[in-house]
Amino acid sequence: MNEEILQTLVLIKPDALKNSLTGYVLSQFSEFHTSLIFAGVKVVHVTEMLAGEHYAEHRGKVFFPALVEMITGKLHYPNEPEKQRVIAIVYEGPDAIKKVRAICGPTNPHVARDEKPGCVRSLGTVVPILDETGRMVGDRMDNLVHASATVEEAEREVKLWFKPADIPPAMRAFPTTRSTEHFYFKNGALLKSYEPGSICVLAPGDAVWESDIEALDAIDNGQPAKQSLESVVAKYLLNRRLD
Ligand code: RTP
Ligand code: MG
Repeated sequence: MNEEILQTLVLIKPDALKNSLTGYVLSQFSEFHTSLIFAGVKVVHVTEMLAGEHYAEHRGKVFFPALVEMITGKLHYPNEPEKQRVIAIVYEGPDAIKKVRAICGPTNPHVARDEKPGCVRSLGTVVPILDETGRMVGDRMDNLVHASATVEEAEREVKLWFKPADIPPAMRAFPTTRSTEHFYFKNGALLKSYEPGSICVLAPGDAVWESDIEALDAIDNGQPAKQSLESVVAKYLLNRRLD
């Protein structure tokens, strides 16, 4: 990351939207309280692909399916797909990651209430996850907000949720370039030319994170890439009608 620009990703999750806590969360993070400023903000309909990439470290854990159902908005808005969204924000400024995490508080809302009354997550809930027999097998934590935990995580997450074009050029913290080629996506595979049913992810001239082009070139050449194809593709497909 460009050391002069420290950024972090915040997600206002569907449970916060459902409880009309957006304004509250935004004022907790406001420049007046934190000295942090917006570099990017958008409303995102979260695809399964993006959810899976965002929470990749939790894949295989007992709470993973509930986590994906929650962040995609299917849990809080099962019959209202138009409301299935999160608000994704890039905050920027000195100590951004630490400041935001402190305002969020501990992951588990019960712990948050015990250890840090008044933090944002103290307003969340914990819901038991049951198996088919009704036995409790884990917890789902509806903790209202996500915040990057480390510098490395912040870079990965800002670049996972935001295209360069979503951020004003002077506020981009990571190297960008322009695609010189077309890239298409179809059935989990990368294509360089159009086939019926494929989706155009990038066209010549599109601004792109350098790390995305490196990954696409590696994948295209059959070499190991530093990130998955889905983690590159997901952000370029956000909020697009694919039917
Ligand atoms: P976040 O990424 O959402 O800011 O939360 P975090 O760093 O405090 O916690 P992390 O370990 O990254 O977990 C991401 C989300 O997964 C759910 N979780 N459930 N039942 C469990 O043991 C458990 N552990 C994590 C939470 O919803 C957490 O926000
Ligand atoms: Mg985390």
